[in-house]
Amino acid sequence: MAYAHIQVEPIAGALGAEIAGVDLASVDLAQFDEIRQAFLENQVVFFRDQDISIDEHKAFAARFGELHVHPVLQQLKDQGHPEVVVLESDGKRPYVADRWHSDVTFEEKPPLGSVLRGRVVPERGGDTMWASMYAAYEGLSDAMQRLLSGLEAVHDGGGFHAIATEDQKKDLASRQTASHPVIRTHPESGRKGIYVNSAFTKSIVGMKPAESKALLDFICGHIETPDFQCRFRWRTNSIAMWDNRCTQHRVLRDNLAAHRRMERVTIIGDRPAA
Ligand SMILES: [Fe+2]
Repeated sequence: MAYAHIQVEPIAGALGAEIAGVDLASVDLAQFDEIRQAFLENQVVFFRDQDISIDEHKAFAARFGELHVHPVLQQLKDQGHPEVVVLESDGKRPYVADRWHSDVTFEEKPPLGSVLRGRVVPERGGDTMWASMYAAYEGLSDAMQRLLSGLEAVHDGGGFHAIATEDQKKDLASRQTASHPVIRTHPESGRKGIYVNSAFTKSIVGMKPAESKALLDFICGHIETPDFQCRFRWRTNSIAMWDNRCTQHRVLRDNLAAHRRMERVTIIGDRPAA
C-alpha cells in the first residue's frame, strides 16, 4: 500500500521494513494507522534514532494493546517499570535469545508483538535475525501443510524456573504451559503460519515421543532456511517492532565480548487459533 505520513522501505524479500519520518515519542493518529499497517504487512519494522524515555517506549507499545509483564524477566520493576525486559550481555554475561524462537509462547495468550530498543549496541556484531513464519508455511508441500494443520503442540516455559525468585516461581507455575495449533491463522491478516519454536515447544499432542521429536526437529530446521529471513544491524536507539504471531527471531553470537543492552516492551496477544 502507499504511505502518506511515514516512509516505508522494505529491507528483504520475505519480511522487514525500515520506517522513517516519525518520532515515536509523538506519533499522531494518521502516522499510527500507517505504522500499524506497515507492521502487519512487513511483520517486523525498524526505526532509527529514537532517543525516547522508558515511559514513551511503553506508551508507544501500549497503543497496540495491553502490556505484558514477564513472569520472571522484570529487571526494572523497582524503578516502576515491571513491563520492561532487559537483555544484557558482555564478556561475563552470555547472550540470551541466541536460538530461534517467538516470545512467551508458553502462555495461553502469547504476545502480539514486542518493541525492542537498542540501548548499548556493539560497533559490530550482535545483529538480530527475524524469520517469516508465513514464508516458512508457504515453503512446505501441500501434503506437509495438511498434516501439520490438524495438530496442536505443547509449549512450556519451565526453563525460567532456574532464574526465578520464589514468588516468581509460583506465578510462572500458574502460566507456564499451554497448547497451541501447530499452524496458526493470524487474527488480523488471515494468513497461515508455523507456530512452533525450538525454545518452548516440547511435544506434539497425540503423537509418540519419537514421532513428535522427528516432526519438531524437521519444522525447527525448516524455519531456519535463509530465504525466510531478514537481518537488522543495530545502532544506539534503533527500535525493532515484530509481530510475534507470524515471526521468529534470534541474536547472532558473533561478538560475545562486546557490551550489548536491549530493552523490550511486550504487548499481550490473543489465544492462537488454527
Ligand atoms: Fe525473543
